Amino acid sequence: MSDSGRSVLEVQDVHTYYGESHVLHGVSLTVAAGQVVTILGRNGMGKTTLIRSVIGFTPARRGSIHFKGRDVTRWPPFRTVELGMGLVPQGRRVFPSLSVRENLEVAGRGNDGGWTLERVYSLFPRLKERAVNRANKLSGGEQQMLAIGRALMTNPELLLMDEPTEGLAPLLVREVGATIARLKREGLSILLVEQNLPMALSVADHVHVLSRGQIVHSSSPEELARNHDVQSRYLGV
Ligand SMILES: Nc1ncnc2c1ncn2[C@@H]1O[C@H](COP(=O)(O)OP(=O)(O)OP(=O)(O)O)[C@@H](O)[C@H]1O
Ligand SMILES: [Mg+2]
Repeated sequence: MSDSGRSVLEVQDVHTYYGESHVLHGVSLTVAAGQVVTILGRNGMGKTTLIRSVIGFTPARRGSIHFKGRDVTRWPPFRTVELGMGLVPQGRRVFPSLSVRENLEVAGRGNDGGWTLERVYSLFPRLKERAVNRANKLSGGEQQMLAIGRALMTNPELLLMDEPTEGLAPLLVREVGATIARLKREGLSILLVEQNLPMALSVADHVHVLSRGQIVHSSSPEELARNHDVQSRYLGV
């Protein structure tokens, strides 16, 4: 349990399977309100599976997930999103044939919370310039902004971000980092999956390293930055 305030997300001893394949082996972590918690780990270690279990695409078979004090372990994604989870999926997955504005409007439909088209455009002015362009005409960096903007349009309290810097040039990686820092300042809680260690360390309040479906290291970012043994053993640094 975190000592830094009310927890928004509590993952307790989660075991997740794809059919008979046992992928998560008892994962536990907490995200306190307003925190950025980062999951690091090499390819195939279970990071996306953890995100899928939290939001409900692949529910945990054992263990529990509490969000804002509610047991959401077996809730379908539409209900966890309704309660305030927002997903920025790995690979961005924007609707390619819809325009930027349509991608955002589809996500915002039926919501009357704090995030509007104009607010997303003020966070990402580039998206306003590209508003009528089809999403498949955007650069990778622009698509990532759109994926983040789309998640924000659902008015999340907890943002789940799965490798938002994957495939981006260094300048854009820094931009995504700055966006995460800004969203945190605006009060969002964030569970971030990253493979970019410097970026993860720069924005995180707390870091966990996942290996073969288990958390093998948890610490402050400062401590992980100093821990070259964990870095070389589990992150290939
Ligand atoms: N739909 C699926 N069906 C069966 N096995 C899967 C499925 N999705 C993932 N796996 C397996 O589960 C394990 C964890 O995969 P996962 O996608 O969670 O890893 P990851 O840490 O997100 O990797 P990456 O960094 O490459 O995105 C891998 O062995 C993967 O092959
Ligand atoms: Mg993944």
